[in-house]
Amino acid sequence: MKKLVAGNWKMNLLPSQVSDYSKSFLAEVGKLDGVDLLLCPSDTALPAAVEAFRNSRVRVGAQNMHSTRSGAFTGETSGEMLADIGVTHVLLGHSERRHVFGEDDELIYAKLVLAHKLGLKPILCVGEKQEQRESGSTEQVLREQFEGSLGRVSNELLAATIVAYEPVWAIGTGLTATPEIAQQAHRFLRSLLGEKLGEAASTVPILYGGSVKPANAAELMSQPDIDGVLVGGASLKPDSFAAIAKATL
Ligand code: 13P
Repeated sequence: MKKLVAGNWKMNLLPSQVSDYSKSFLAEVGKLDGVDLLLCPSDTALPAAVEAFRNSRVRVGAQNMHSTRSGAFTGETSGEMLADIGVTHVLLGHSERRHVFGEDDELIYAKLVLAHKLGLKPILCVGEKQEQRESGSTEQVLREQFEGSLGRVSNELLAATIVAYEPVWAIGTGLTATPEIAQQAHRFLRSLLGEKLGEAASTVPILYGGSVKPANAAELMSQPDIDGVLVGGASLKPDSFAAIAKATL
């Protein structure tokens, strides 16, 4: 499988900055065909990003969606609205959604099912907090998050999902997981996938996220169960995000 390099801009960059970003980024990576590329801008920058990356190798994803199709949910964005403008992927269960906005596995599960129904490719994020790692409960936390969402969908939908391992202590902290620590968690997630999917577990991409930079991306992605990266801060500049994409080759 090709590596997937995905960027999560979080609540950064303006719609008016997308055009310059896309020109610089595509100048660097437009011809790299050994890697899959995805960018997840804020909702207001999505239309500009879909337009700027049309006919390019870069797909555009959203950072979140509501758990229902439509209705009286002031301030929310539905998956149907995202799909309608040409968005192809959606991040679900990101640690900031879980821990800042209080999303639980039940809600994330509902979003996962709906994303598949709407034809949006979900990237379901899991990961332990620092105190959970320190108390030795990393695998228990990953199992609970897995069983609360991913493990409840049909095997067909599970096989069509992308998983992202993002240890909360590594997000935005500069404290990247070592390749060994990341690989260990990825192998565990692969074994959870294997309990449901058997051999087909090897075809589900598992991305690593948490302080990925040009300097550490290649070593992380050389691990056998790390199929790509989900990049926050280092995706905000086209040159550093392009350097990470090139690190896959
Ligand atoms: P950083 O790369 O800024 O640590 O963010 C990781 C992340 O949360 C990507 O979704």
